[in-house]
Amino acid sequence: MDTTPASTQTTAVRETSDWTTAARARECGRPDAYLRDYYAATACGPAASGLDRMVANGGEFGCPIARGRLGDALALRAVAGGVRQVVCLGAGGDTRAWRLRLPSDLAWWEVDLPGQLDAKNNRLAALGVTPHCPVTNVTTDLRGSWTEELAHHGHNASRPTLWIADGLFYFLTPAEGTKLIDALTRRSAPGSRFCGDIPRPAPDDLRRARLIAFMDGLGCPFVGGVEHPHQLFTDPAWRVDAHLSTDLAAGRCPLVPSLPHRLAEREHHIWYTHALLP
Ligand SMILES: C[S@@+](CC[C@H](N)C(=O)[O-])C[C@H]1O[C@@H](n2cnc3c(N)ncnc32)[C@H](O)[C@@H]1O
Repeated sequence: MDTTPASTQTTAVRETSDWTTAARARECGRPDAYLRDYYAATACGPAASGLDRMVANGGEFGCPIARGRLGDALALRAVAGGVRQVVCLGAGGDTRAWRLRLPSDLAWWEVDLPGQLDAKNNRLAALGVTPHCPVTNVTTDLRGSWTEELAHHGHNASRPTLWIADGLFYFLTPAEGTKLIDALTRRSAPGSRFCGDIPRPAPDDLRRARLIAFMDGLGCPFVGGVEHPHQLFTDPAWRVDAHLSTDLAAGRCPLVPSLPHRLAEREHHIWYTHALLP
């Protein structure tokens, strides 16, 4: 049984956002960057050094880059197709509303735990950058009745929505993940889309086991994992498509250029998922 106090768990899970934002900042500095998140260095909070500790303990540097590039492509595609609502779940250091060319009539919500989003917004504002569209923060626990909060903040369930969930499903049990997808499905008009990375159980992978032990020790255990993302989408109307890093590296996802092998080689247990509700 996990006996870590709730406040410690909350701080620990929130800090993982600095790791993934730091990964995007580091990638952006490469001449051959696969993803250019120019604002990641600013958006990143004080826990950035956790990235190196995570990688040393079996974590994946490539995953936030791969899902970042895929999410960018899907966001731009959804917007080009007329979607005017985006909800970023577990947004953390996401900078898409600031750096992607988005229309000003797009409504963008960022949902995360209390205390998480204001600091990023303030750091970006201090840099003098503003989002391309209005961004509304919703501070709530995504294991609770978060859709009520979202509705209260103006989300319209009768219009299509792009749901982004990058780096979130590690922290949700399969039951919590299914509940989350069910909840967002109830607010998804036809034409809605989903994208995010969803872990797969890897009981025989020693490196993965080391990472899981590391996360347990920090007090923010990786509790997520399903054999295939289909299992989370209980409404059969969703058309779910998912790729492993090997698929991305082999160019089998037509939405993005091939993932460089240097970003793909360490992990094989994450589904890069996108879904459409026709
Ligand atoms: C690994 S970070 C990913 C952040 C960002 N989406 C990215 O890709 O860089 C996970 C994020 O999910 C948030 N999160 C985890 N569990 C949550 C929950 N139950 N409710 C709301 N947010 C949660 C954390 O606070 C953190 O910002």
